[in-house]
Amino acid sequence: MSDSIVIKNATIINRTSQLVADVKIENGFVAEVGKNLKGDTLLDASGCIVSSGFVDLHAHLREPGKEEAETIETGSRAGALGGYTALVAMPNTDPPQDSVAVIDFVREQGKRAGLVDVVPSGCITLGRHGESLAPMAELAQAGVTLFTDDGNGVQDAALMRRALEYAKGLGVTLAQHCEVAELTKGAVMNECRCCTDLGLPGWPAIAEELMVFRDIELVRITGASMHFLHLSTKRSVELVRAGKRDGLPITAEVTPHHLSLTEELLSSYNPVFKVNPPLRSTSDIQALKAGLLDGTIDAIATDHAPHPRRDKEMSLDMAPPGMLGLETALGVVLAEGACEIRDIVALMSWNPAKIARIDKAHGCDVAVGNKANLCVFDPELTWSIDINRLASKSVNTPYLGRTLRGRVRHTIFNGLPTVIDGQAQR
Ligand code: DOR
Repeated sequence: MSDSIVIKNATIINRTSQLVADVKIENGFVAEVGKNLKGDTLLDASGCIVSSGFVDLHAHLREPGKEEAETIETGSRAGALGGYTALVAMPNTDPPQDSVAVIDFVREQGKRAGLVDVVPSGCITLGRHGESLAPMAELAQAGVTLFTDDGNGVQDAALMRRALEYAKGLGVTLAQHCEVAELTKGAVMNECRCCTDLGLPGWPAIAEELMVFRDIELVRITGASMHFLHLSTKRSVELVRAGKRDGLPITAEVTPHHLSLTEELLSSYNPVFKVNPPLRSTSDIQALKAGLLDGTIDAIATDHAPHPRRDKEMSLDMAPPGMLGLETALGVVLAEGACEIRDIVALMSWNPAKIARIDKAHGCDVAVGNKANLCVFDPELTWSIDINRLASKSVNTPYLGRTLRGRVRHTIFNGLPTVIDGQAQR
């Protein structure tokens, strides 16, 4: 029998209930919920929420291949500090996640770090080159449930149709990075009035929307399930809303940065604000927030994209797109005040756990007998980033100097604390 942990006086948020109580954890599971519980380790949680741990559908952990930017261990630690108990690892590693060997390696490194469940996604196409399909059946056999070429969209409609047909048969989900590449060549920021004034090549909304439209129609004829990654425009939200109204098996995510930062930030010419898809306009942000409220958008996912200083400090046209997200997601989303705390738990835990098909162990109610993958956070605490204390190996956060609201206090993974009072335990 292992030592017990008791989370004291937290407000427990579950799907159909909310109450203030203690939560006792033993042998990896929730053992008791009630008043005045006793245990070996007591974690104060007064004024805090306890919910199922967060699940990120979109984390670039960079290992194998770009360990200078992040490793599975440093990314996992950043995730734990952000309240996450599971991270879906994106496949644009080197080598890419298109073989069982690489999938097994990523999963093993995740286990070795032991701070979150690292769930490797598989590539849709070999090498993410968009030319021929990855061995999807073999990868599915090895436990992959989410396939994506993220970083690239699958350009070839016939290949995407074939991938969806396979996905349908295998019972897996395809996640699309929606970007028609011909329309974004050399692009740096959202195509808008401000980009012309700044002399920066524009990245049109239609580059995203055309692929959202195409893939919704491909889902309609194949019946396969599809997840839309990092949606950023008003029209994309409208297209997904209409597709859902037709009963299609589609889901969608937005990132904290597309909810909180606008295109004008590029007027600083600072590459920290360069991201794919680009930061958009205030009216796009309003539409994304409306999508969160009416259920069109199912999840908030970070698109955590660490890059070494040396790369991010190049000129705007040369610097790679991407920003950190794991340690700040909750603080950004709560500071935006876009939705209620209960909705945030749904968007950051319950729904993504279901989309990643890991909902037996993650995104479960805080209830006796369920796996203890939990997040305890103070929804009111304001804070700002100390760049020297980030767990991530990279520092490309766009939120320096901003006041964030809501901070993770404790994270419990598999019944053990990975974070206590905001400090990583390993
Ligand atoms: O900004 C981004 N960075 N968007 C992506 O889709 C890929 C990511 C990366 O890997 O750096």
